[in-house]
Amino acid sequence: MKILGVETSCDDTAIAVLEGRDRILANVVSSQTALHRAYGGIVPELASRHHLENIQPILDEALGMAGARLTDIDGVAVTAGPGLIGSLLVGVSFAKALAWAMGRPLVGVNHLEGHVRAAYIEAPDLPYPALALVVSGGHTSIYLSPEEGVYKLVARTRDDAAGEAFDKAARLLGLGYPGGPIIDRLAKDGDPASVPFPRARMSDGSLDFSFSGLKTAVLRQARAAGLAIERSAPSPAYDPHGPERGPQEDAPAEPSQAVRDFAASFQTAVVDVLVERTMSAAQEQGARAVVVSGGVACNSLLRTAMRAACDARGLALAIPAPKYCTDNAAMIAAAGRLHLERGERATLDLSAQPGWKLGGPEAARTTLRHK
Ligand code: KG4
Ligand code: ZN
Repeated sequence: MKILGVETSCDDTAIAVLEGRDRILANVVSSQTALHRAYGGIVPELASRHHLENIQPILDEALGMAGARLTDIDGVAVTAGPGLIGSLLVGVSFAKALAWAMGRPLVGVNHLEGHVRAAYIEAPDLPYPALALVVSGGHTSIYLSPEEGVYKLVARTRDDAAGEAFDKAARLLGLGYPGGPIIDRLAKDGDPASVPFPRARMSDGSLDFSFSGLKTAVLRQARAAGLAIERSAPSPAYDPHGPERGPQEDAPAEPSQAVRDFAASFQTAVVDVLVERTMSAAQEQGARAVVVSGGVACNSLLRTAMRAACDARGLALAIPAPKYCTDNAAMIAAAGRLHLERGERATLDLSAQPGWKLGGPEAARTTLRHK
């Protein structure tokens, strides 16, 4: 069985072909990062326009890579939410048209379920119950997956996502966009103990995350150390990461040692919180395995720290290869396969659901709408 995955929830246009349970025949991602870099964040209107231009060539490329024709496809899985409405609509409309034209089944997939299932592409036999940390530019949540395809929300961020915190810190230091990979690289030559950053915990005892205190500390410490690059130009377009900045210049060629120390201290503060909260949740929920996925799961310190923490507790760990951590369609095809095999079908009134929550109270209602 070959499944076509379609993902356009944010700024990457992605199409993949999955065969069977875990053979990825093609995984094509067209990144718009360079386009949005000029604004220091994603501009939704630009994103949806580029999805529209890119999606057909990306499909052709994916089919070519898979050595498949459209008629070889047995089912179509598309991200229906959460995400940017304009971006989601391009993928959903395209997938509906394909499924209808070919007479193949269609299923709408939750993007966050896709991130979780990405781990099972390379680790299909991970034991249950599994605890999944999904950590990206838009999300920072922990889910319990007691069995295949079932999710319960255990913790979420009350404000910024961890990736957003990386992006904002990098922007303040004038390092460029997206910030995560740049901070990761600079931190390798920095002292993680040089700048004291807070590790926030909820006063109500919940395992939820909050990065707003860290954000304030970053601003304060960067100003105090003379590292803050502050621009007064108004934002030229809508910027989901904050309205206070104008177009970004390229990153400086040689960041100073002080910037590297700052980056290392910041990264360690974020990673400490992510690992500590995930381990607490794993213990509370009696998990046997941990999954870490989403763009921030590419972070080298997070990967090694999570490995050490899981090894110390005898927990199995799966962190997908970076190409399956950041947004991609292989993960959507992998999650879609589960639903298609259970006989779930979306009808042609499937629509984009920008606020679709995974494992929350709305999950049952949303699934019904897909049948
Ligand atoms: O999953 P993703 O590609 O898109 C979203 O759904 O958000 O994640 C993008 C986020 C960005 O915030 C980016 O800065 C962050 O992932 N990121 C990283 C690293 N690589 C990407 N954060 C920390 N370290 C990295 N190596
Ligand atoms: Zn994502």
